[in-house]
Amino acid sequence: MNVVVVGAGYVGLVTAACLAESGNQVVCVDHDQARVALLLAGGVPIYEPGLEDMVQRNLQAGRLTFTQSIREAMAHADVVFIAVGTPPKEDGSADLQHVLTVARQIGQHLQAFAVVVNKSTVPVGTAAAVRSEIHAQLAIRGERGLDVAVVSNPEFLKEGAAIDDFMRPDRIVIGVPDSAEGERARHLLTRLYMPFNRHHDRTVWMDVVSAELTKYAANAMLATRISFMNEMALLADGLGADIDSVRRGIGADQRIGHSFLYAGTGYGGSCFPKDTRALVHAAAARGATMCVVEAVEKVNTAQKQALVTTVRRVFGDKLAGRRFAIWGLAFKPNTDDMREAPSRTVIGALVQMGAQVVAFDPVAQHTAHAALADDLGPAVFAPGGAVQLADNAMDALDGVDALLLLTEWKCFQNPDFLGMGGRMRRKVVFDGRNVYDPAVMQELGFAYVGIGRRNESGRALLNKELAHWVTGDAHHHLTAQARNEAIAQMVAI
Ligand SMILES: NC(=O)c1ccc[n+]([C@@H]2O[C@H](COP(=O)([O-])OP(=O)(O)OC[C@H]3O[C@@H](n4cnc5c(N)ncnc54)[C@H](O)[C@@H]3O)[C@@H](O)[C@H]2O)c1
Repeated sequence: MNVVVVGAGYVGLVTAACLAESGNQVVCVDHDQARVALLLAGGVPIYEPGLEDMVQRNLQAGRLTFTQSIREAMAHADVVFIAVGTPPKEDGSADLQHVLTVARQIGQHLQAFAVVVNKSTVPVGTAAAVRSEIHAQLAIRGERGLDVAVVSNPEFLKEGAAIDDFMRPDRIVIGVPDSAEGERARHLLTRLYMPFNRHHDRTVWMDVVSAELTKYAANAMLATRISFMNEMALLADGLGADIDSVRRGIGADQRIGHSFLYAGTGYGGSCFPKDTRALVHAAAARGATMCVVEAVEKVNTAQKQALVTTVRRVFGDKLAGRRFAIWGLAFKPNTDDMREAPSRTVIGALVQMGAQVVAFDPVAQHTAHAALADDLGPAVFAPGGAVQLADNAMDALDGVDALLLLTEWKCFQNPDFLGMGGRMRRKVVFDGRNVYDPAVMQELGFAYVGIGRRNESGRALLNKELAHWVTGDAHHHLTAQARNEAIAQMVAI
């Protein structure tokens, strides 16, 4: 089948590569010249495990190519995917300008019947808007015999596991119009998705509007679970309960399940924040209030400040002369995506309070550099500026007052704790992803604060019972043995 995918980002590139891998002839279009040049040279502009190999393999096999020209690409298109960005506008609504531009171009260059698939996350009613835009262009061209079927096929892939999600999806949601064109679309898409449905049919067919809403409902539900657990963690902190025990206790209930129940520093990324806001906005435009989703968003905004609050409780508001290590910058592991990453909020707040920050991420160094320069001004990276990127995780720890773990990359999960302690000025760890076991950290002599994790050193640290240890340098001058005894005494409080 001849497939065009417009947009070579996380969704478009994965869609294009996976459809080429299953034998289709795929042209991927992007208006970004540098991106297209890089892709044609076998490079990949984003970090996604397995993607680069797949792109190169299919380029070499002649099944996949890249172009800036949608006109060229449209010459033999059976199916055209729209996978361009839908960023949030100031008011929280989805900005559809890229989607509608592509629709216009499809109308300008359509040669024969094609199925137009909205893969971008778009508000209810967008398929109808895309169809009108295409029809308007066909009318200008005087093309009365040409038509399209516009369907909604929202994407549910997770960055970091995108190839696997596309190749082995939980479900494929497709909304088709109730018309003869809709039937043609159903027929073509059944064929296109057949390789991903061999084990059993995962396609959930529905009407277009329901498919559009399904994507927002899915993201809102997942975001709700995260905010729910973050709110519970706050209460757990207050009550002296351990949120991880609570998580295991409720997750074992099959009606609840274990996924998306981790308390942390809040969700980020290109989807949950913008999609929850867009949902609230879409409801408001129809006079409705999404009470639950609004609360989810509010809890998340507050949660991004959770570790900042912890730092302030321990070190005060004036952080001049303080140095903090950050492990993890991407909004989650296995991606370089910095969109709405909690690290941006945390680093911004620390810098504003006068701190020095030394950060490390195994993959997102480049994207983080661009995002933080954008947020804080490029001068933060100048010599003597407030932010540095370290070459590796251990180097980030030299002389720091505390380590803040913000992304649960595997490489941070079982580090050389003894080596860490030797490099840090103070053995203080604020764990924004609850990666470490509080009891083990205590045994190792770290003062440890997680999110909703009950433990004595964290409690003592927050209650300033260890203020002398955090603010004074006394232990620096002790012998190793005396220092260990002091820490043992500290963690015994
Ligand atoms: N990233 C995810 O995990 C994810 C998951 C599911 C759904 N989505 C949705 O999919 C859509 C795309 O997201 P993404 O993360 O892939 O975005 P992205 O920003 O990574 O990629 C978008 C690409 O579209 C290109 N583009 C924009 N306008 C264009 C035009 N007029 N012509 C040609 N190319 C154009 C951009 O240059 C960019 O390469 C969004 O609606 C998003 O909400 C994203």
